Amino acid sequence: MEQLDPAKIPNHLAIIMDGNGRWAQQRMLKRIVGHQRGAETVKMIVEQASLVGIKYLTLFAFSSENWLRPAMEVRALMTLLKKYIRQETARMMRKNIRYNVIGNRSDLPDDINQTLDEAIRKTAGNSGMMLTMALSYGSRQELSLAAARLARDVMAGKLLPDDISIDVFGSYLDTGGLPDPDFLIRTSGEMRISNFLLWQLAYTELYFTDTNWPDFTIDEFHKALADFQARERRFGMTSAQLNRRN
Ligand code: IPE
Ligand code: IPE
Ligand code: MG
Repeated sequence: MEQLDPAKIPNHLAIIMDGNGRWAQQRMLKRIVGHQRGAETVKMIVEQASLVGIKYLTLFAFSSENWLRPAMEVRALMTLLKKYIRQETARMMRKNIRYNVIGNRSDLPDDINQTLDEAIRKTAGNSGMMLTMALSYGSRQELSLAAARLARDVMAGKLLPDDISIDVFGSYLDTGGLPDPDFLIRTSGEMRISNFLLWQLAYTELYFTDTNWPDFTIDEFHKALADFQARERRFGMTSAQLNRRN
């Protein structure tokens, strides 16, 4: 296993958990079996992330565009989600993990929303890692809704157009209050963002692996973190400037 520097653990890790369907198809199994196996990987990575000291973990679990999938797959995913949250809340309490959701919750079925509310309420007092699930989430949708809310507040006289700074705009997003991700992992070999956290990923380090999400292991997770630790985040500055600051 890779040796990790505890001082250089990403504060906020975001993951696009992709490849469940292909994992199943390669084994002549139904896509939903891939999602079930993917849920096992989620359990393992949530635990590992909190163990290595990640403070914010954000998982892309269901996109706004995923509603376009066959109704049977969508239904199966919702059932799996509900089961996952119900089963995992006790473990989240033990691990001191707080639960959070971003995305268009009004699209989600009522029973899912109830389950989510319950999990959020139960874990609200936990002070460890914050686990954010992106559900029915699309970044362009989030950005346009934020713009609409801002416009309404300007019209109501709560805010002047000139008050709209980067920080103010960011506070209108679903992720208001969360720091930007330091590191993004996408599994399954796809090299795209798929409408995830477009604003928030401005200076995030990106990592792509060919491994499908159900096959993603603790070892690979550590390998990804070691890769992050070897990078120099310059934020537009020169290397010399950064080294002078240390
Ligand atoms: C990711 O796996 C899970 C969701 C998007 C819900 P996919 O279902 O996208 O798997 P592939 O990309 O078809 O292999
Ligand atoms: C992105 O995966 C969404 C999630 C992981 C939930 P997709 O499988 O939906 O992305 P595309 O369609 O390949 O871009
Ligand atoms: Mg996919």
